[in-house]
Amino acid sequence: MKIYIAKDFFQLSKKAAEIIQDAISEKPDLVLGLATGSTPLGTYKELIRMHKEEKLDFSRVISFNLDEYYPISPENKQSYFYYMKHNFFRHININPENIHVPDGQAEDAESHCKVYEAEIRRHKGIDLQLLGIGENGHIGFNEPDDEIEVLTHLTKLSESTLRANSRFFDSKEKVPCQAITMGLGSIMKAKKILLLASGIKKAEIIAKLLTEQKATTNIPASALLLHNDVTVLLDEEAAGIYKMKIKNQFSEG
Ligand code: PGA
Repeated sequence: MKIYIAKDFFQLSKKAAEIIQDAISEKPDLVLGLATGSTPLGTYKELIRMHKEEKLDFSRVISFNLDEYYPISPENKQSYFYYMKHNFFRHININPENIHVPDGQAEDAESHCKVYEAEIRRHKGIDLQLLGIGENGHIGFNEPDDEIEVLTHLTKLSESTLRANSRFFDSKEKVPCQAITMGLGSIMKAKKILLLASGIKKAEIIAKLLTEQKATTNIPASALLLHNDVTVLLDEEAAGIYKMKIKNQFSEG
């Protein structure tokens, strides 16, 4: 696991965008796994700048989003489809046919999950997966639980995620209580993973993840410890407790 600590959110976003830019330069038909939330917003902004000013070409890139609320309409401003369209896709030259976001209106969610998984396979898997992390250690909507769901599935959101996401809705009651998410297995099959964490709220989970080095279903992101090509990009705030802990380890040892 490579750990990179950036000075601030802007530098973190710049570095993440550079990693994605390099991957597209190397493989113009990159299969790119994308995430939503506040953390990747700076990365999308920088990628849009690279597209506009440096001609970064997305025309052959194939994207797969991690998750979507269920049920939700793509026109709902809180849907991840809407987020992706407005914060990224409509500003770049990605081919709409190459965009995949789980369908929040699928009539049969279970079979849609199977089709989504099969689509990822048809494109020979994800080359580079961008991830955020929840304060409870979730990735996508893979929430802490006794068991791990391996493939794309319909899931219930945990209380803590409902609470965290209620900031985007009028009230906690308006947050859809289910979501379609890629499973940890779908994520772990990505050839390369880029995990972003920014801000003080992520400091505790990052420290736990990086110092304890234990894989547990109580911290879904800890599955990433088993992957052989993960880059963790942090800003100073998210890295704060981790840095303190490793400093103490050194002074104790
Ligand atoms: P955030 O969400 O980027 O809005 O903090 C991350 C996540 O919950 O996966």
